[in-house]
Amino acid sequence: NKKTTIINIKSRKGTGQPITMLTAYDYPWAVLVDRAGIDIILVGDSLGMVVLGYDDTISVTMDEMIHHISAVTRSVKNSLVVGDMPFGSYNVSIEKAVENANMIMKKGRADAVKLEGGKNMAPVIKAIINSGTPVQGHIGLTPQTASALGGFKVQGKSAEAAQALIEDAKALEDAGCFSIVLEAIPAPIAKMVTKAVSIPTIGIGAGIHCDGQVLVTHDMTGLFDRFTPKFVKQYAKINEIISSAIAEFKSEVENRKFPEEKHSFTMNADELGKIIDN
Ligand code: KIV
Ligand code: NA
Repeated sequence: NKKTTIINIKSRKGTGQPITMLTAYDYPWAVLVDRAGIDIILVGDSLGMVVLGYDDTISVTMDEMIHHISAVTRSVKNSLVVGDMPFGSYNVSIEKAVENANMIMKKGRADAVKLEGGKNMAPVIKAIINSGTPVQGHIGLTPQTASALGGFKVQGKSAEAAQALIEDAKALEDAGCFSIVLEAIPAPIAKMVTKAVSIPTIGIGAGIHCDGQVLVTHDMTGLFDRFTPKFVKQYAKINEIISSAIAEFKSEVENRKFPEEKHSFTMNADELGKIIDN
């Protein structure tokens, strides 16, 4: 086992060997995903929704991201760790964006950052890369700017929109991104985007032709069940396992079945006698 590098990821383009990426936000999940041999762990700003209980990703702060990115990087041995840049951390000025990317590397100890946007973000991305931080792009449905997109909708469905996505992907490649997340894009359009660039595309709701696939771990394991987007495959329902464990604990405590003798500390008669005598 060896630490995955940016070069490893880039070299997977066109090899027919898909890149795997999942999210993690803390020690137990980072360890599970890393041990499973997943290529990239994303500490996504989905953190806000699946862990912190926000309704969307807009509210997530730099401090919250770094708190969780550092928990993950302390726990991971092999996977490449990408830290998401939260809304407001890279769209104010190039200087602020570079400063915040630096913080994600310095305090979070991530291997790279990800930020949302195409052509419009190219100057920001170039500056971050020039300062020494690798960047993963993210186009299509960009949750941080869903309001401006008119909601959580599939992107790239008109000829102009598809062309714009291709141009965005090329701009991200030119800016120096090592890969691009494609979110909620019709499969044939994602295929065109994938063919148009020489860096890997990693799809979420973007069909089979991307160079890799990403899902939110809490969605695909059934831990987050507030809603499940169409593009999520639920591989497990661990919420049911956890719920039944909690229900069993409650019932056993209420019925004095837990703790048993084997969970309790005892003392011998001599030791106990001294205490009682006193
Ligand atoms: O925040 C996140 O989990 C993401 C993935 C959905 C790509 O950005
Ligand atoms: Na994100």
